[in-house]
Amino acid sequence: MLNHIDSFLKNGPMVTAWNARNRLRSRYSKVPGSMPVFWFIDKALYFTELCFDRPFDWRFRTDTGGFIPLKDLTIKGRNIEECHWYQPMSVTVFKRIMDHVDIDFSEFEFIDFGSGKGRVLLLAAGYGFKKIIGVEFAQELHNIAVKNLAAYESVTKKPAGIELVCEDAVKFPLPDSPLVLFFYSPFEGSVLEQVISNIRESHMLNPRKIVLIFHGRNAHSIALLESLNFQSREIEIVADWSRIEHQRTIVFTSPE
Ligand SMILES: C[S@@+](CC[C@H](N)C(=O)[O-])C[C@H]1O[C@@H](n2cnc3c(N)ncnc32)[C@H](O)[C@@H]1O
Repeated sequence: MLNHIDSFLKNGPMVTAWNARNRLRSRYSKVPGSMPVFWFIDKALYFTELCFDRPFDWRFRTDTGGFIPLKDLTIKGRNIEECHWYQPMSVTVFKRIMDHVDIDFSEFEFIDFGSGKGRVLLLAAGYGFKKIIGVEFAQELHNIAVKNLAAYESVTKKPAGIELVCEDAVKFPLPDSPLVLFFYSPFEGSVLEQVISNIRESHMLNPRKIVLIFHGRNAHSIALLESLNFQSREIEIVADWSRIEHQRTIVFTSPE
């Protein structure tokens, strides 16, 4: 019982409800008639998560929300196998992560790998980075990001300093300046391996400070990132209570 209370306080109601759903599902999914009940529970949880996610878009008249499978989208390149969905970063969690990044942002370019509809880029615009770049391989999400950027700039009435690139992340050449690289579970496996190899090569040719922020849960992805041999530090982020799943956040910093 104490464990449940502890988990509730740490992760919030949505993660607790999702874990309970998983336990029930593994126990009762074979019971006749149970599937429509689980379908209903899933829809209710996703709908609640979407509702909690709306305030950012109301404020900036953007459309960054939703949970979108990639299978029906127009993808640049062939790397669809290592990523299956779009979901934007939690606004609260992004701010909590950035509170732990102790650098002079004005010296760095910020790159979001798998920038989707551009939410992380718009959030990064508030930190004074030298430049912000989003790389997204789904044409439809990129097109929405272009509209979102225009809407955001018309509300804030100033340029956000964001460049949007519609391209497969493996083909994106890293700029030569100090970098903050943001990865919110964009891709795994061979795609992540290639991107990591690009980062390693770029850093070898031009040693500079690179801060890589990983937000996700995939153990294999974390092991791949550790192979960069950058200094790594896991940060304990208080979960966003509106989210169904709790992710880990690890910051990898290069030797200069
Ligand atoms: C979890 S979403 C993150 C969206 C965004 N970073 C945010 O937090 O608002 C992952 C994104 O990565 C994109 N993606 C996956 N594989 C990619 C690749 N190889 N190249 C570029 N983008 C990719 C997906 O289309 C999706 O939009």
